[in-house]
Amino acid sequence: MADKTQSPNDAHTSQIWGGRFQSGPSAVMEAINASVGFDRNMAEEDIAGSLAHAAMLGACGVISSEDAAAIERGLIQVRDEIRAGQFTWKTELEDVHMNVEARLREIIGEPAGRLHTARSRNDQVATDFRLWLRAACDRIDTALAAYQSALIDQARAHADQVMPGFTHLQTAQPVSLGHHLLCYVELAERDRGRFADARKRLNESPLGCAALAGTAFPIDREMTATTLGFDRPMANSLDGVSSRDFALETLSAAAICAVNLSRFAEEIVLWCTRRFGFASLSDAWSTGSSIMPQKRNPDAAELVRAKPGRIAGALQGLLIVMKGLPLAYSKDMQEDKAPVFQAIDDLELAIAAMTGMAGDLSFHASALETAAGEAYSDATDLADWLVRELGRPFRDAHHIAGSIVKAAEARDVPLADLPLEIMQSVDSSIDERVFSVLSARASMQSRTSFGGTSPVRVREQVEVWTRRLSPADPS
Ligand code: ARG
Repeated sequence: MADKTQSPNDAHTSQIWGGRFQSGPSAVMEAINASVGFDRNMAEEDIAGSLAHAAMLGACGVISSEDAAAIERGLIQVRDEIRAGQFTWKTELEDVHMNVEARLREIIGEPAGRLHTARSRNDQVATDFRLWLRAACDRIDTALAAYQSALIDQARAHADQVMPGFTHLQTAQPVSLGHHLLCYVELAERDRGRFADARKRLNESPLGCAALAGTAFPIDREMTATTLGFDRPMANSLDGVSSRDFALETLSAAAICAVNLSRFAEEIVLWCTRRFGFASLSDAWSTGSSIMPQKRNPDAAELVRAKPGRIAGALQGLLIVMKGLPLAYSKDMQEDKAPVFQAIDDLELAIAAMTGMAGDLSFHASALETAAGEAYSDATDLADWLVRELGRPFRDAHHIAGSIVKAAEARDVPLADLPLEIMQSVDSSIDERVFSVLSARASMQSRTSFGGTSPVRVREQVEVWTRRLSPADPS
């Protein structure tokens, strides 16, 4: 280590910004400064941005059309080399931008030096990062739609399957399994909405903001914005190079999405336990234990359950990097990319795993039905019957039903098996019609209010979602 810090690397005084330097950076300076290890992830975007910039410089007469053509040819070769895995990345060239430009110079010579006219790495990196995140938002949208489809297929197949609905993880009221699964479709739809919002706001072009103040060259920022598919050029050059709220917003969407996924992941973990016994995952989505031969573990669900730790951590990290940074660009902002790349990778893997597991789950009908009828899950139906048929105020009905549950508990029988005389000893007006509401299935079927769990409503929602997700649907 010691000699690293003390031996400036003179070989690099010729690097791109080296004109006023007499010696190169120390090895540790080079190590802390270099971002190419991760920003090479944006090589495609960097070259797309440079192609758009060079074409614009040529069209505006800032550089000759011959130079613009040479730059284009050279950049395409660089891109081919990178795609083919034949490109040699050099840490001493700091970042993706200088690696690409240095190779361009090797290929086309002097015209390469004209590419950086009216541009800085500050607007360049902001452009690359926005393009990268825009593509990520699009991939995530497609992945979430596939996740929704897998859930909808299961919901369609299980609209009539009764299961216990929980509050406080205590049995509450019977619900349709289809209804339960469609809840996650709704959550995923709002996740898609958050990514769409983030995409809409990030899709503006910083290119041409240059270092911070714009440029004296007669450039056409509309042209580069259009070429790169941006909605418009950013209107304030300081904003263009210094803002990273677009990354924070996308990370926020990612963190919320990861949290949403983790909730279903946790339910998969619970449902696949012996204690619940509601569902199983096939071998494709299970792992074994190295010591206990009988084990089948839902590792993928557990890992999705853990992902918010990393993804919300990335959001937290970048919030802290950005906090209190004065305008405009500061090198601190180079620390934005690694957490974003990591978080997006994690999220894409988590969505893919949840899509796979959502489709793979096989449900155990009788265990679900038995559990749905346990723990007096029909007590609310008894109270509602007292309101509806006997005109009792709900608060009184709640009290009467509670006393009946207590009597049933003392005999260790479900409400449906409690003798009518016992119920009548609590409220003498109760008659045998009450038994028609005392089953998990009747309870589920009765909840026909809009948004309720009755299979009639669930099938309607399955149809609504099937139409919304079909590619032919214009809405
Ligand atoms: N690698 C840098 C980053 O990611 C590129 C911008 C460098 N700009 C500068 N003025 N040194 O932030």
